[in-house]
Amino acid sequence: MLVCAPQVKHHQEDCRTVFRSGGTQWLAPVLVSSQTIATRAMSQDTRKAVLHTLDKLSDDDYLLFVRDYYREGDRRFGNAWDYADLLTFLAAASEILQPRNFLEIGVRRGRSAAIVAAACPTCDIYGFDMWMVDYAGMPNPGPQFVTDELQRIGHRGKIELVSGDSHTTVPAFFAANPQAKFDLINVDGDHSPDGAQADLECVLPYVDLGGMLLLDDITHPQHRYLEDVWDHVVGSNPDFVSYKYRELGYGVAVGIRRN
Ligand SMILES: C[S@@+](CC[C@H](N)C(=O)[O-])C[C@H]1O[C@@H](n2cnc3c(N)ncnc32)[C@H](O)[C@@H]1O
Repeated sequence: MLVCAPQVKHHQEDCRTVFRSGGTQWLAPVLVSSQTIATRAMSQDTRKAVLHTLDKLSDDDYLLFVRDYYREGDRRFGNAWDYADLLTFLAAASEILQPRNFLEIGVRRGRSAAIVAAACPTCDIYGFDMWMVDYAGMPNPGPQFVTDELQRIGHRGKIELVSGDSHTTVPAFFAANPQAKFDLINVDGDHSPDGAQADLECVLPYVDLGGMLLLDDITHPQHRYLEDVWDHVVGSNPDFVSYKYRELGYGVAVGIRRN
C-alpha cells in the first residue's frame, strides 16, 4: 500500500474551531458543537448546495432518487423542512469546519467525498474501499471513477484511494502514520455490527480536537443496530459531543471531539 503521509498539525492553535485564550483557559477550547453543524445540515441552503454538487456527478438510481426527494421536500415545505442526511451533514461540516483533510471508509462512487470537495476544494482526501461489485445493486466502478468524479467538482487537494478490506488497510495506514490527525472522518463501509464497531474504534483516536466523526445509516431498517454501535463507541465517550439525526431517511450520527 503506497500512501502519502497526511499533513500533521503540530500546533492546536492552527485548528480554526478551537479558541485558546492568552490568559486562563476557562472553557474547553472547542467552539463548534455537533448541534451547530446539525442546524446548518437541516437548512434549505445546505440542501441546495448539496443538489448543486449532485447535479454535476454521474447518475445512478440512488442519486436520481435522492435529488428528486430533496426537490420535492423543499417544494412542499421549503425552509420548514428539517430533512438531513449524511450529505447535508458533510456539506454543513465542510462549510463550518473547513477541514484540511478528510478520511472516509466506504467511498463507493465518491458521492460523499464530492460533497466535501465542493465546499473545500483543497481538502486532502483519504478513501478506503474494497469496491464491492454492484454494491446495493448499482455499479461500483472503483478508484479511477472516483478520481474523475472529484475532478468534475474541481477538487485540487491530494487524493489517496486505498483498495482492500478496511479492517486491514485502515489499521495499516495508521500504523504507518501514527501522528495523523483528521478534521473530518466518515465511517460508511462495513455495515455489520462488529465491522462498523471495529472501523469506528480504529479511527476514533485520530479525530483532531474540534474535528468531526460521522456514522451513516443508524436508522436504516436493515442496520438499526448501528445506533447502538454508535452509542457504545462514541455517544458514551466523554471526549465527544454527539448528535443523532433519526427523524427521516436512514439517519446519521455525528460527534465532535471536545477534549
Ligand atoms: C454505503 S457505501 C458508501 C457510500 C458513500 N459513502 C456515499 O455516501 O456515497 C459502502 C461502501 O463500503 C464498501 N465496503 C463495505 N465493506 C467494506 C470493507 N470491509 N472494507 C472496505 N470497504 C468496504 C463497499 O464496497 C461500498 O463501496
